[in-house]
Amino acid sequence: MCGIVGYVGSKPALNVVVEGLARLEYRGYDSAGVAVLTDGALMTAKRAGKLVNLRNALDEEPAPEGTVGMGHTRWATHGPPTDRNAHPHVDCTGRIAVVHNGIIENFAALRAELTERGHRLDSDTDTEVVAHLLEEELRDGAGGLAEAVRRVCRRLEGAFTLVVVNADDPDVVVGARRNSPLVVGVGEGENFLASDVAAFIAHTRDAIELGQDQVVELRRDKVTITDFQGRPAEVREYHVDWDVTAAEKGGYDSFMLKEIAEQPRAVADTLLGRIGTDGRLTLDEMRISDEQLREIDKIIIVACGTAYHAGLIAKYAIEHWAGLPCEVELASEFRYRDPILTRTTLVIAISQSGETMDTLMAVRHAREQRARVLGVCNVNGSTLPRECDGVLYTHAGPEVGVAATKTFLTQLVAVYLIALYLAQVRGTKWGDEVFAMVQLLATMPEKVERVLETMEPVRELARSLADERCVLFLGRHVGYPVALEGALKLKELAYMHAEGFAAGELKHGPIALIEEGLPVVVVVPPRARAVLHDKIVSNIQEIRARGARTIVIAEDGDDSVVPFSDTLIRVPAVPTLLQPLVATVPLQVFSCELARAKGHDVDQPRNLAKSVTVE
Ligand code: F6R
Repeated sequence: MCGIVGYVGSKPALNVVVEGLARLEYRGYDSAGVAVLTDGALMTAKRAGKLVNLRNALDEEPAPEGTVGMGHTRWATHGPPTDRNAHPHVDCTGRIAVVHNGIIENFAALRAELTERGHRLDSDTDTEVVAHLLEEELRDGAGGLAEAVRRVCRRLEGAFTLVVVNADDPDVVVGARRNSPLVVGVGEGENFLASDVAAFIAHTRDAIELGQDQVVELRRDKVTITDFQGRPAEVREYHVDWDVTAAEKGGYDSFMLKEIAEQPRAVADTLLGRIGTDGRLTLDEMRISDEQLREIDKIIIVACGTAYHAGLIAKYAIEHWAGLPCEVELASEFRYRDPILTRTTLVIAISQSGETMDTLMAVRHAREQRARVLGVCNVNGSTLPRECDGVLYTHAGPEVGVAATKTFLTQLVAVYLIALYLAQVRGTKWGDEVFAMVQLLATMPEKVERVLETMEPVRELARSLADERCVLFLGRHVGYPVALEGALKLKELAYMHAEGFAAGELKHGPIALIEEGLPVVVVVPPRARAVLHDKIVSNIQEIRARGARTIVIAEDGDDSVVPFSDTLIRVPAVPTLLQPLVATVPLQVFSCELARAKGHDVDQPRNLAKSVTVE
């Protein structure tokens, strides 16, 4: 949700900033803009649309030589995605420029005040008020750009991560963080600011995570971090454990294709180091003691979108293995009801980015009610882990494609590990039962690889359905969230109407949707769950009798579905609870290929952004 880059060093800032924006474009692609300080002057350029429009505009002008600058890629909140509303925004003097990620909730009142005092605001954005407030602070002798930013931040409400430059202070870039992410990259004689380390990973892997309500002053050879009052702040330095190749397409046509292909490795990495030689699980970063886990009497999972689907699957695993009641709630709904939370409730917040505002607000609500909170997160240095009692990282590596793929599979592995760990600690399963399941989990990378090797017929099928208007997805038990995930992928990538249903619910209404030729994807549970399996085979016959075109995902060797399948997609036989790891992959490939056949950009689907930092 908006990407921000700042740079102070000795290289031409424009190149560093535009290259950084290219790596952050997944955060928003409604417009892009840059500001560079050269010889005491401020140059800005901005264009609506994807970064390529800005690059083309920049190519038409001589490049500024300045070595201090910043840039922004926008996901529009206030004001349509036009050139005028693109960031950076400048003050009345045209010497102060601001880029912003978030929503300034009191901007209307501030705008009215500023207009009253004679400022001219040119855009419809909430951001522009910051440039004019800074203008006033600096005119009144605030004592440097960082101090002016601190003063302005104290007046702002909402979510505002800002980066600011001032032509009168030409060796400095100042950033401020509340809610949306901002990371410092520490180089040799150069320093960086960005929403995500991917923006500067080609230059340095040494990073500093900014905390909530902190201001950073960046100079070539110095980084100074304070709170909004100007007091020195505590920060966390860390080394990024992946390199620039992980943030590139590596020969694939899209990041999504690359990330789908990376899933076997990602699943293996999430398991790595967590299974002891004695077969016992060790989840070191949990930071919630075994004693505390034994006290837990209820689990509530909060998450959004694909992560919510991982949560739905986690419920089956937690209830089955750990014998604990488990609710799953959309994070955006959680704090608006009256959830019953106590010190013995464990809230599990699942978020790839660790920046999803709905999830963060749910976490804050849970902690206010004294519940313990465990995060499942992919991005080191993001907000979620800081705000939780404990965290389990998914170690999927950077995911750039906007649609979640490898991070979904690794979220599943993480929640399976949590469920098994709870079973181990609470003694709801024997040690050898836990170990047997862990050993099965360890075979999943190879099983996912086998699915990937057999995907050509799925791609063919997807291309043949490119002109369809609607696809339905059915599943039962853990196959139901898989169906929801299949439908979500198709909606967001192919912009098609797609719905996932619990197959048993079909007869209660949705069956009215079935008409001649309608493609319906059905996820069939393993035969080992005979009751479930046989019921869904009946459901397939019911929809086929009404003309549906059945696309059936079933385990190897399940011949009972052959007579009722127009297309049969095979996946390796695995225990029911683990089946989502193999059954989801064909659905990812299906949506990706169908969207490509329609000519869509699968990495940057329309209207979306990878990390949703507004509520
Ligand atoms: C769908 C997708 C989104 C995210 C959701 C939560 O492909 O990516 O539905 O899953 O926005 O994001 P995180 O996991 O970052 O909290």
